This record gives sequence, C-alpha cells and structure tokens, in this order.
Amino acid sequence: MDSRRDNSSSDELLPPSVRYFDKEPDRPFSPIFRRLHSAPSAGRRWVLGVCAFLSVISLATLGLLALYTAKSDQVTDIHDEVDILDPHQYVIGHPTENFRDNLRNDTKYITSWISAGWTNDVMTYGNLLYLALLTDRVPIIPKFIPSHIGSQVAPISFGEIFDVPRLSKALGKPILEWHQVKDVDSKSLDDLGCWSIWEAVQFTEHSPRFSFLSQWLKLDISYTPTPDWVKLTPPDVGDKHSSFWSLASLAFPEARESNLRDPYPSPEHQLSLPPDEQLLCYDYLYYVGAHKPFEYDLDYSPAWRFVGQHMRWSSRLTDITDTYVRRALNITDNEDTPPFISIHMRHGDFKTYCNDIPLDQCYASLPVIARRVTEIQQELLERKGLDVKHIIMTSDEKDPGWWSDVASLGWTWIDYAAENTEELYGKWYPVLIDAVIQSSGAGFIGTDQSTMSILARRRVESWQDGATRIVKWGHPGADDH
Ligand SMILES: *[C@@H]1O[C@H](CO)[C@@H](O)[C@H](O)[C@H]1NC(C)=O
Ligand SMILES: *[C@@H]1O[C@H](CO)[C@@H](O)[C@H](O)[C@H]1NC(C)=O
Repeated sequence: MDSRRDNSSSDELLPPSVRYFDKEPDRPFSPIFRRLHSAPSAGRRWVLGVCAFLSVISLATLGLLALYTAKSDQVTDIHDEVDILDPHQYVIGHPTENFRDNLRNDTKYITSWISAGWTNDVMTYGNLLYLALLTDRVPIIPKFIPSHIGSQVAPISFGEIFDVPRLSKALGKPILEWHQVKDVDSKSLDDLGCWSIWEAVQFTEHSPRFSFLSQWLKLDISYTPTPDWVKLTPPDVGDKHSSFWSLASLAFPEARESNLRDPYPSPEHQLSLPPDEQLLCYDYLYYVGAHKPFEYDLDYSPAWRFVGQHMRWSSRLTDITDTYVRRALNITDNEDTPPFISIHMRHGDFKTYCNDIPLDQCYASLPVIARRVTEIQQELLERKGLDVKHIIMTSDEKDPGWWSDVASLGWTWIDYAAENTEELYGKWYPVLIDAVIQSSGAGFIGTDQSTMSILARRRVESWQDGATRIVKWGHPGADDH
C-alpha cells in the first residue's frame, strides 16, 4: 500500500480549536441573486414606483410593437439566463479522447486533484469551487477516487452524490465534471502544466502532492512550484495551508508571468510546461484558507458559506437514505419520516491518538454520549417545540458488544451488511448514506477532531436549523462540562 495514503487519512485529525455553536441560517448566497433581491431603501421607493409605472407603460408599448414583430422567429430567447448555467454550453460536444479538443476557445477553466479520505475530498472540491468563483473560471470537477473503502472500487462522480444543477444555480456558475470533457475510456495521455502548492507549504515531501487522479484521467502533468508566499501562515509556523487569494492571483496574467520558473518535467513525456492558461490547475487544495487554517470548522468559513452549504445531496441518494431510515425506525408507509437525532462516533484509526490509554477509556463512553443526547432533546424542545425520541447511530466501530450496548439504549442504526447495501448500490454507499443520515438529523452529535463530524454539524446547522454538540475524547472525563 502506498504510504502517502496512510498519511492522508490522518488529515482527519485537526488541531484543537475553539468551539462555537452560532446558528447559521440557510441564506443562499450568490453575488447575482443578492443584487436581484436587495431591498430598495424607503427613500427610493417613490422614485422606483414612478419608474415602475413608466416601465409598465413602455413595456405595454413594446408589447404592442412585439405583437407586430414577433411573427418573425428572431425573438430573443428570454431563457438565456437559465442556459448560461448549462454545462454543455462550455464544452464543444461529447467527451473526447483528448480533453483539449473539447475545451471552448472563449472559456477559461479551473481544476484540481484529490488525495485523502472522502470527507476531506469533499472539502477539497468545495475549495476548488470557491476558487472558481474568485477567479471567474468554469470548474471541472474530477470523480471521487476510493481511499478508505479499498482501492479496487471504481471512482464515483461528483454529480452522483451532489445535486449539481442546484449547486450551479446557487453559485450562479456552470459546473463541469471531467467525464463530460474527456472520454473515461480514453487511452490517450494528455500533457498539462499545473501549479504545485505542496512544496511551498510543507517541507517533508520534495515533490508535488501525489494523487491517483492523474492516472485515472490519463494526464501527464508538468508542475511549476508556486512561490513561497502562497503559504497562509508565517514560514516558521508548521502548517500546510495556503491562502485563497494568493492562489487566485496566479490565475491572472501579471502574477502568473512574474512567478514562472523552471517546471518539473512531466513523468511520462518528460515535457516541461508552464502552468496552463486556459485550464488552470493546482496539485492539492485541501489545505486552503482565507484567514485561518481548517476554516470549515469556523463560522465565517467562506468555502462553506459561498459553496459548501449549497452542496446538497442528489435526490437519488436522499431517497435511498430515507428508505433505510424509515426501515430502521420501523415507520409504516402512511407515516412521514419522524425527526431524529443523528450521532457520528468515529473510532477506527482514531485509536492512533489514544497512545497508552485503553480504548474504552479513550473514546467517549455511551453514557457520555447519552448525556449529549439529553441536552439536544432539551434544546430542540425549548427552541423548536420538537419532542425527538428517535436516535440513529453511525460509526465505524466493529465490536458487536458496543453495538448491542447502543441497542440497549433504545437507539438504532443501519445494518449495511444485513441490508446488502454494497451489493445493491456499490461500496461507496454505506459511507454516503451515513453522511446523509448525519446531515438529516434535527440534532447531531459528532466526534471531536473528525472532519466528517465537522461537515455534518455544519449541514445540520445550515439545513435543519438543528441542535449540535461535539463530544470530546482522548481520556476519561474529556467531555466533562
Ligand atoms: C474559436 O472556436 C470557434 C468555433 O470552433 C472558431 O470558429 C474560431 O475561429 C475560434 N477562434 C480562435 C481565435 O481560434
Ligand atoms: C414495527 O411496527 C409495527 C406496527 O407499528 C409493530 O407491530 C412491530 O412490532 C414493530 N416492529 C419492531 C421491530 O419494532
């Protein structure tokens, strides 16, 4: 197994940070929509009223004129606004053997690669989409490639998991996926010049960040190291983040030109290529922040507010999950799915951080989690008048004894083995369904330091106006409060 993969899973452990429980209502933001929806000031209303009146008159006149001219079929398409989000407008046609043959010569694009566990890869694509907004380029999103679920598993497309048309609308931006650009069965290796951030932000690996995507996409990439000033924190701070706007500046001619230097030859064709101007690309965008490292955990996070919160699940994934939830809660056909509290207890490789402490004392115990459940039930009752009785556990714990203790608390879970979920839907689905369940709770309880819990908490707060708690762990009494 590639050791870089082992390292990448540790991305899930974040440094301790200040917790906050501010509520972020779902306020879809897009620069376009906000302008359209901005309320006129009281003083301007009279003027606007007159303008509106005059507009009605002139529109009526125009309308009459139109009646006479509309006989010709040259009427302007009033649906232009919808079409500008259609991704097919931003490629020449069907996927091609070489990606470049499908790029439009009047369009600029941006892409990047992934190389961690699925949750972190979701954050990485969120960062890519946010950079697409900053640089005003059309994003091309690769598939998710397997890491924790076994390297034999086929990649899954972004659009199978997320509702891309809805995301595109919220962002006011077309979104392309790589399989719409380059034929997935292409045998042709494409040359591409990209920026490598990795060597500017960490000092242990002297190469660009590795990703299996270059093999999947059949790309032979020549990397140009970015300047050191892309690093978000001072040089002496051992943190791997770069800053959004320093990376964005390299998308524009002036900063690009003045920071060009000798590219590394590509591994296959040994070509040295400067960073591509039409298809801007960076090696790895997981570690990017606007102001601080690990911003998905902070309330102002621009990547979450401008992009992440609009990454809603595809309707197919939501429907599949709802079926499982209803069965786990034993809901009959003529009842609605009741509100529930979701829990994510990450164990598995988090044991690495327990050192000498026995696991049953290192991880938060079930009574400690039950105390959080009671808090959430009280908050939901007081704040929203919701009496929530159903509790659904998601966890990578393998010990049947632990699960039977979960059952004796009256909590439930989805038994993916008994449900044959992998056989029915594929190996990606247990983890995807877990993520949807976590995000669908009226309340959510997560594991401190887990990025899967961080995203679940943000979703429950943004989408459900829900109550959330994060359970601390690492030693007995860690979650005392
Ligand atoms: C751009 O592409 C269009 C359509 O394929 C073509 O007609 C035009 O000549 C191209 N322009 C340039 C500058 O290559
Ligand atoms: C499921 O619900 C039905 C009808 O409400 C009930 O008869 C049955 O005992 C329940 N089964 C379980 C396992 O709770």
